[in-house]
Amino acid sequence: MLSIALIWGLLVGLCSCLWLAVGIRKRHPGEPPIENGLIPYLGCALQFGANPLEFLRSRQKKHGHIFTCKIAGEYVHFLCDPFSYHSVIRQGRHFDWKKFHFATATKAFGHDSMDPRFGHTTENLHQTFLKTLQGDALPSLIQNMMENLQNVLLQPGSVSAHAREWQVDGIFAFCYKVMFESGYLTLFGKELNLQEDQRQARLEAQKALVLNALENFKEFDKIFPALVAGLPIHVFKSAHSAREKLAKNMTAEELSKRKNMSDLISLRMVLNDTLSTFDDRSKAHTHVALLWASQANTLPATFWTLFYLIRSPDALRAATEEVEKVLESTGQRPDPKGPHLTLTREQLDNLPVLDSIIKEAMRLSSASLNIRVAKESFLLHLDNKEAYHIRKDDIIALYPQMLHFDPEIYEDPLTYRYDRFLDESGQEKSSFYREGRRLRYYYMPFGSGVTKCPGRFFAVHEIKQFLLLLLAHFHMELLDPQARVPPLDQSRAGLGILQPTYDVDFRFRLKARPQEGRPLA
Ligand code: HEM
Repeated sequence: MLSIALIWGLLVGLCSCLWLAVGIRKRHPGEPPIENGLIPYLGCALQFGANPLEFLRSRQKKHGHIFTCKIAGEYVHFLCDPFSYHSVIRQGRHFDWKKFHFATATKAFGHDSMDPRFGHTTENLHQTFLKTLQGDALPSLIQNMMENLQNVLLQPGSVSAHAREWQVDGIFAFCYKVMFESGYLTLFGKELNLQEDQRQARLEAQKALVLNALENFKEFDKIFPALVAGLPIHVFKSAHSAREKLAKNMTAEELSKRKNMSDLISLRMVLNDTLSTFDDRSKAHTHVALLWASQANTLPATFWTLFYLIRSPDALRAATEEVEKVLESTGQRPDPKGPHLTLTREQLDNLPVLDSIIKEAMRLSSASLNIRVAKESFLLHLDNKEAYHIRKDDIIALYPQMLHFDPEIYEDPLTYRYDRFLDESGQEKSSFYREGRRLRYYYMPFGSGVTKCPGRFFAVHEIKQFLLLLLAHFHMELLDPQARVPPLDQSRAGLGILQPTYDVDFRFRLKARPQEGRPLA
């Protein structure tokens, strides 16, 4: 017995010596201060993961604008000075942004690598995204989303069609149902051949399919942070099965049965067929990746926007006024049984109050990590004229939540102010200061530079359309007017918009219309 304990003791001792010898990086002259952490391999991962903002603030206080932490086997240089952000965002030649992104996507979604260097495809994915989500592609996305939102919200059998009396739902649950279904139909189209005689039955079948996809999406999304952290999906049986079920509805054969598909999905199908050697399974999984990208941040962002809006009487009043004004100026009257409301991209772009409401909600809930990998060893120049040696393959990270919660940039940063992003004339405010200097980077929920979210314009438009329709058609209030702000779920920190740790109930009912003999209230 004693000898077994002795052998174990020696083994542990040997491993510890080995870790001390090779597992701890020593700081070289000219490099940022380093924290190796106490746990082999993980380094500071647990402390960072528990509360990234607190962790980074405490290290910034100790080390200054830049420091290095070992996190899950990687050396990550956190750059905390917003005036130095441009040295990472603008100076692409030293960085490889593809390596980390493609590797993470391959692990999480289970398709072959989309990195052309691996030889499975020659598609320039970045170009595909820009071409199909921005510029000329945007108006039709917006138009289809508006159509789908109104079908989902107002059609017979929809979530709220019969809401003449107050109906109660969780805000998160409501946003999930409405935005997921509308977004899914906008990207992946509707079933072909909705014959008149079978129309109702087919519509119900289509709804069931999308709601089923929603359940699978939730199951898969739950374990997404673990996948990004490197755990294999096979450990999570039900999430694995959910991902496979999502992919099953996204094979070329299934998608070919759908009409009105977005340019994004139809072009990707063509490029999968012409530029890649992916098999059918891999192709379908690339579409699951896009479903995730289009929904995983939009859903919680919609929740926070609606939650804060309903909770703030001033915000609700200002937003309702803005919506009434734009509808009046375009000669439209909201009527759930009447023609759908339509607004052009330009009209949607000219709603500064809704813009500010969306921005403020995202400022308070976003926690994305902007990551680049050093292609080579180089010298990183900071704004204060200091320069630091960065080693090849190290990671440089920006954590914009530090900006979003900085009291010097945003006075009283934990307080919701719906008009924070409006200037004195009620237009978009874009001048924010720190230490008396105007900031170039002050609001970054969509990432930065070359990896900035290509769907950001569509995302803001779809949330705006959702708010506009709710404000036009419904009265809304919190079930408990004193409801507190639910804490952010930190387990997803680094991935984008954080979810609430619990849902908050609200009630809603359709507004009465004058033709129903009641005043417009
Ligand atoms: C509020 C909603 C959204 C937020 C906050 C958001 C945020 C982000 C962030 C932070 C990234 C990563 C940037 C980086 O790695 O530095 C990203 C990437 C991406 N987003 Fe979004 N996003 C949103 C909605 C959307 C929508 C609606 C779509 C598409 C319809 C979309 C498509 C994408 C794609 C395709 C990428 C990957 C880009 C690439 O790897 O080149 N996003 N998004």
